Amino acid sequence: MLITGARTVDGFATDFYVRDGVFADPLQAPPNVRRVDAAGLLALPGLVDLHTHLRQPGREDAETIATGTLAAARGGFTCVHAMANTTPVTDTAERAEWIRQTAAAQASCEVAVVGAVTKGLAGEELADLEAMAAGGARVFSDDGRCVADSLLMRRALEFAAATGAVIAQHSQDPRLAGPTACCHESHVSRELGLDGWPAQAESAIVARDVQLAELTSGRLHVCHVSTAETVDVLRWAKARGIPVTAEVTPHHLLLDTPLLASGDTTYKVNPPLRTTEHLEAVREALADGTIDAVATDHAPHAASDKAKPFPEASPGMLGLEQALSVVIDVMVNTGRMDWPTLAERMSYTPARIGRVADQGRPLAIGEPANVVLVDPARRAPVDPQTSASLSRNNPYRGLDLPDPVVMTVCAGRVAFNRHPGLVPG
Ligand code: DOR
Repeated sequence: MLITGARTVDGFATDFYVRDGVFADPLQAPPNVRRVDAAGLLALPGLVDLHTHLRQPGREDAETIATGTLAAARGGFTCVHAMANTTPVTDTAERAEWIRQTAAAQASCEVAVVGAVTKGLAGEELADLEAMAAGGARVFSDDGRCVADSLLMRRALEFAAATGAVIAQHSQDPRLAGPTACCHESHVSRELGLDGWPAQAESAIVARDVQLAELTSGRLHVCHVSTAETVDVLRWAKARGIPVTAEVTPHHLLLDTPLLASGDTTYKVNPPLRTTEHLEAVREALADGTIDAVATDHAPHAASDKAKPFPEASPGMLGLEQALSVVIDVMVNTGRMDWPTLAERMSYTPARIGRVADQGRPLAIGEPANVVLVDPARRAPVDPQTSASLSRNNPYRGLDLPDPVVMTVCAGRVAFNRHPGLVPG
């Protein structure tokens, strides 16, 4: 396939000849090659998500490896990190290998498997991190739950220091709120009569963990940063040279606490949606690099798990298909961030954090052909019914957002296409 006339983020018009999974020299393309006219489109390196819940095994009614990775390809992602809170939990090398093999047969993009930090995500005993690392896992996380025990977190980071792995922490102190906490603690939660999580439930854990990262030299990655206080802690830690990276979700960049007044449980998520001053802080931190990456926390849930009173409904929202749309609107279209920085935050840097060798590579001859063609000007109201996900908990439904992805090429294969000029074959 020969993609002609696309612009790169640096502003150059380039042709891409995709052959045998890599970019080859366009001058060597045969005359009868399949052609895609990409004039007017932007070529981004394939996006990499550090934080995806694929739900398989165990909750195939909410998502599968096939449907979740198709949603990823529709969103421009060529790699997702599959979180470990499956049923059963991905806490052994065998379970990690099962996901790898299922993905190899069924996925539309690369799947990097995240192993659990603790057995059964119970927070009591380390899982067999060594065996999972030997099988290829580079990221370990109890995401959905916080590794609250300080000594266990220290041991996990010691393992990371010894092996080059990274511990991705869901920073939310479970002892800083009651069992019915379900939103951000603020005047809005008080008006709605809901129990809230204080912002400090996040930043207190991050403050502890960056010090453990300093103590152990183990690499810490902070999942879904949502508060201004966490940003302050990260700035302090990075200034000290502590090995910490961080991500922010599209929903924490765009959506705020007052949405909860609708009572719609789609907006229930952990960590919760915050107030404007927090949104401004995480946007600024993403722009200046204090927050290294965007990650979706794509969390599909069956309708029955959301159709409950707010405190009991499952937390989580979809993210893969609108992540790029949100980042374009909130960060690029407002002048907060330029396109090369978007490519850093959504491809190059997450690939480096997750250590996925074939992702986040330059769009250059000899490199793996992972590329997404986007039309930055295209917009459309979000229609959850057209989603590839099996779930419908889409917090962006009805919003007029960029609808940029035209084609996603993953390892040389067309994983998603709506370019009228490309005939399948
Ligand atoms: O809201 C959330 N849902 N936050 C998490 O960290 C986990 C996720 C899930 O698995 O549903």
